[in-house]
Amino acid sequence: ISSLGQLITGTFSHLCVLQQLTGTLTLAVFSAVLGSLQFGYSLGVINAPQKVIEQHYGRSLGVLPEEPLLLSENSTETQEVHPSVVMYWSLSVSIFSIGGMVSSFLVGFIGDLRGRVKGMLMVNVLAVIAGLLMVMAKMWKPHVMVIAGRCVMGFYCGLSSGLVPMYIGEIAPMAYRGALGTLHQLATVTGILLSQVLGLEFLLGNDYYWPLLLGLSGAPAVLQSLLLPLCPESPRYLYIKRGMVEEAKKSMYCRNLSSLLENTLPVKSFYSFKGSSLFYYFLHCRIILFVALMMHFSQQLSGINAIFYYSTAIFERAGVTQPVYATIGVGVLNTVFTMVSVALVDRAGRRTLTLIGLGGMCICAVSMTVGLVYLSVYSWMSYVSMSAIFLFVCFFEIGPGPIPWFIVAELFSQGPRPAALALAGCTNWTSNFIIGMTFPYIEALCGSYVFILFAVLLFGFTVFTYLRVPETKGKTFEEIAAVFKKGMKQTPGTRKTGTGTGTSTELEQLKTDSQ
Ligand code: GLC
Repeated sequence: ISSLGQLITGTFSHLCVLQQLTGTLTLAVFSAVLGSLQFGYSLGVINAPQKVIEQHYGRSLGVLPEEPLLLSENSTETQEVHPSVVMYWSLSVSIFSIGGMVSSFLVGFIGDLRGRVKGMLMVNVLAVIAGLLMVMAKMWKPHVMVIAGRCVMGFYCGLSSGLVPMYIGEIAPMAYRGALGTLHQLATVTGILLSQVLGLEFLLGNDYYWPLLLGLSGAPAVLQSLLLPLCPESPRYLYIKRGMVEEAKKSMYCRNLSSLLENTLPVKSFYSFKGSSLFYYFLHCRIILFVALMMHFSQQLSGINAIFYYSTAIFERAGVTQPVYATIGVGVLNTVFTMVSVALVDRAGRRTLTLIGLGGMCICAVSMTVGLVYLSVYSWMSYVSMSAIFLFVCFFEIGPGPIPWFIVAELFSQGPRPAALALAGCTNWTSNFIIGMTFPYIEALCGSYVFILFAVLLFGFTVFTYLRVPETKGKTFEEIAAVFKKGMKQTPGTRKTGTGTGTSTELEQLKTDSQ
């Protein structure tokens, strides 16, 4: 009887929480993650059509004849690519990360300027411009048009990969903060998969349609621009940043207003600071910032993008005959396991899933190396490397993929959150760029042993997570902050906060009003 009682109570409280997932919240999260979809699509779209686009570059640069060359699996492998084409191609790929690195610094500024929703709306102009540049690539010099488009798109993605988790983190009810936060990654991986599928030669990855394939990366921005005006602004932004009590109340989507705001009050009292200056972080938030940045380093230095950017070459090395389809297989698993993470993250917790993910990836990196090294001795070793690559991706999406994106919004309170997300984003984009640029050279140097490097790094990150990363599941911001409290000095005058915020009394009033 007592278990039945517990079950009923549990189900009842679950239903209460479900009530918070209102239509408005669903609309807000869906609209926001269209930005993440675009981010993922742009990450993945450049791989498949490489050979076709290189031909257009070659013709426009005058190093290839005007007639399109026949593209077949065998003929292209033996073709020499002109060095200038290689250079422009590498730039087309990497300029995206450079754009992201630069703009991720502006996330805090844009998010605070007119609010999270207006921020996301404003930056969509960039995505549309980028899409148009690429869709019209054949009309002028394709290499210039694509490089310009990718640069603007990277700039857009640097902003949206910060603004989206910030907005979702601020509007999510505590019990669903992890699952809703993981939706950013789910939309990203869906975008990657979509670009892989559309990039197949018989769809858009061909001589005729490739500009459309690239240009489509701007399409979700159009839909998002139509939906965002219907979405509520983050109540925390309105109330704490702008001191707009009435507007904050109007913008509340959930019935249980007090549960939303109970996170706000203690955090304001715990962290006392003015504005969100970088100085503040280095002085007061060193430890939290260190943990946040390490999580982003561990996401990128795990080597995940070595798989995503160079999967075809890696699969070929592992003895796979149809690498394109194996790459799509990676994309499918990637999406499925992100869904698993959405389901688990608010039950198992961020720390546990990150630990399992990093540890599992470390074992896979070792297995991949064993498989690659002994491939010449035992042919069945190709199955070992293949399975290790697939499992590597699965473990990544269980924790190290999605969690760093939203945990920063959980670790930091309202004031420093935008700038912390900007720093974390910049760390992510920079290390992504470094891996993308250096992996081919490291691979040339280490050969089949290349993943040992990542195994060592992954081992280090697993130990770091075990020792330093706190569990944030089901905790208010105050409880999260308390974990770090020992390492920080509390500033005097704690109840008064920075720029034009409301007072605690107003907050209490706001809480009372809602009940
Ligand atoms: C994360 C990473 C991104 C990677 C993707 C793969 O979003 O930030 O760099 O490509 O996961 O799923």
